[in-house]
Amino acid sequence: MSADDESGRPDEVGVGPWPGGPGEWPRNADGSPDERYDPELLAHGDRRNVVDRYRYWTLEAVVADLDTRRHPFHVAIENWQHDLNIGSVVRTANAFLAAQVHIVGNRRWNRRGAMVTDRYQHVRHHPTVADLVAWADAEGLPVLGVDNLPGSVPLEGYPLPRACVLVFGQESVGLSDEVRAAAADVLHIAQFGSTRSINAGAAAAIAMHAWVAQHAAT
Ligand SMILES: C[S@@+](CC[C@H](N)C(=O)[O-])C[C@H]1O[C@@H](n2cnc3c(N)ncnc32)[C@H](O)[C@@H]1O
Repeated sequence: MSADDESGRPDEVGVGPWPGGPGEWPRNADGSPDERYDPELLAHGDRRNVVDRYRYWTLEAVVADLDTRRHPFHVAIENWQHDLNIGSVVRTANAFLAAQVHIVGNRRWNRRGAMVTDRYQHVRHHPTVADLVAWADAEGLPVLGVDNLPGSVPLEGYPLPRACVLVFGQESVGLSDEVRAAAADVLHIAQFGSTRSINAGAAAAIAMHAWVAQHAAT
């Protein structure tokens, strides 16, 4: 339940202070304070966009818990011209619990679309495609490009490996030739209208959900 239901203030989300005050704050079986809980949040409320399971938890405790159950797929996006979709990709990767997000090219990216989810997600930078590919090789991870290019095969029905790297191109130019050359396959998402492509953030969400549908959804 949101505290807003009680306060009547629709502009507030999340929950208010932990009911009952400090004497009621969560404790371990031995009576010591449960260190996963943040005293500031317990005292003042938790307005973050986190699932109820993590209400009042410290950032570090949430990340540590996510790290125990991250999925083995990675996502990478090329960032040669400061693609504004990256924040959305990071947010979706957090929602679907990708192992890591890889930014290829420029290190800087616009965090606004991530809505703070980047703090809970491991985001790694590779200056070049060769760096990303060398890392994937070392990890034994197949690289799969995602783009609707000549020679691409349908994502629909494609058996995605459990552990893999899904690589997305950027909004203007799409997947680079280097990624196409390194990819085991390039996968396209079926389209039926007049536009040449969908938004890269939307394509990333569809591809990640395809992985979830094959490997993680109950
Ligand atoms: C604007 S699109 C790239 C350009 C596109 N190849 C074209 O011919 O216009 C940007 C990125 O979104 C993703 N994307 C967009 N539409 C897609 C689709 N139908 N299938 C797979 N990926 C897609 C890809 O990662 C692509 O590199």
